[in-house]
Amino acid sequence: MNIVVIGSGVMGPGIAQVFLMGGHHVIMSDIKVEALAEGTKEIRNSLTLMASKGITNQDVTTLMSNFQTMTSLEEAVKDADLVIEAIPEVINIKQKVYEDLDQFCPKDTVIVSNTSALPLPEIFPHFRPGSFFVAHFMNPPQIIPLVEIVKNDKTNPEKVAWLREVLEKCGKKPIVINQFIKGFLINRMQTAMAREALYLYEKGVVSLEDLDVANTACIGFKSAWQGTFETMDYIGLDTCAFAYNIIFPDLCNDTTVPATVTQKVKEGKLGLKSGEGFFTYPEDSNEVSMQRQAGLLEQLKLFNDYIKE
Ligand SMILES: NC(=O)c1ccc[n+]([C@@H]2O[C@H](COP(=O)([O-])OP(=O)(O)OC[C@H]3O[C@@H](n4cnc5c(N)ncnc54)[C@H](O)[C@@H]3O)[C@@H](O)[C@H]2O)c1
Repeated sequence: MNIVVIGSGVMGPGIAQVFLMGGHHVIMSDIKVEALAEGTKEIRNSLTLMASKGITNQDVTTLMSNFQTMTSLEEAVKDADLVIEAIPEVINIKQKVYEDLDQFCPKDTVIVSNTSALPLPEIFPHFRPGSFFVAHFMNPPQIIPLVEIVKNDKTNPEKVAWLREVLEKCGKKPIVINQFIKGFLINRMQTAMAREALYLYEKGVVSLEDLDVANTACIGFKSAWQGTFETMDYIGLDTCAFAYNIIFPDLCNDTTVPATVTQKVKEGKLGLKSGEGFFTYPEDSNEVSMQRQAGLLEQLKLFNDYIKE
């Protein structure tokens, strides 16, 4: 199958890698030659790392022989079965690319956007209705199994089923969101937890360090093996009802960005990318990213061996 990824920034290379590992021919297109060179290097390094950890037994050189980069969108998409758009979250830029895609893609190409938040099929209702929808990959996309496929009123269910199967065959775990909703599913759930964590921290109930331990040593530790609804079943729904009755009214329901975050942003303390956020980081942020990736790859091995089915 011919897969085209548009955009070679944070997300594009990892998305391209998913389809390469699934045995497809992949073209990555970007307006910047340097971005394509950097993205190609990232894919090769990541494949090599995955091969060294036994996550793939496919030969890296063979996989890379199925990969091309192009600056010409027209040339890239002329035989595309599936296009994944991963360019910046700027409406004007997306609009121009969609106009080009409409002109250059075959009529039956499925076109998805990796947008994190924009209701694109609503903003561009005349762009390939039925065949254009959202497929939201998680960062880093070559590692995190989940992909959110977000339908809209016009989405052709057969195209959704087709994409779901293609992704599953590439080793992903797609889920379908039946209507466009702000934040889709993952960002809504993560944001709900972040709001409560920030609230408890601001009230001085618990330290940042201990809040993060709550995730790694309990919530995340268990969540990798059991879902929210399974967890409720394990607890017992009568016990859940009793606890919710007491806890729900006490939870944070603020609708503004917490002061701790706005203050940090004002001070330029943006997290890993600026060397300081809630915690401080070494100057070479690459070191931290590699460490994080190594941990996630161990988790992926467990997921593939035990959890996936
Ligand atoms: N960064 C994340 O963690 C993340 C996670 C999930 C979804 N997303 C979404 O994915 C999309 C891409 O995000 P990103 O973080 O990879 O962006 P990015 O800014 O890192 O990369 C975008 C790339 O697109 C290229 N580009 C710009 N205009 C182009 C054009 N007209 N044609 C071709 N290429 C063009 C840029 O040169 C750049 O290399 C966004 O919609 C974003 O919301 C991002």
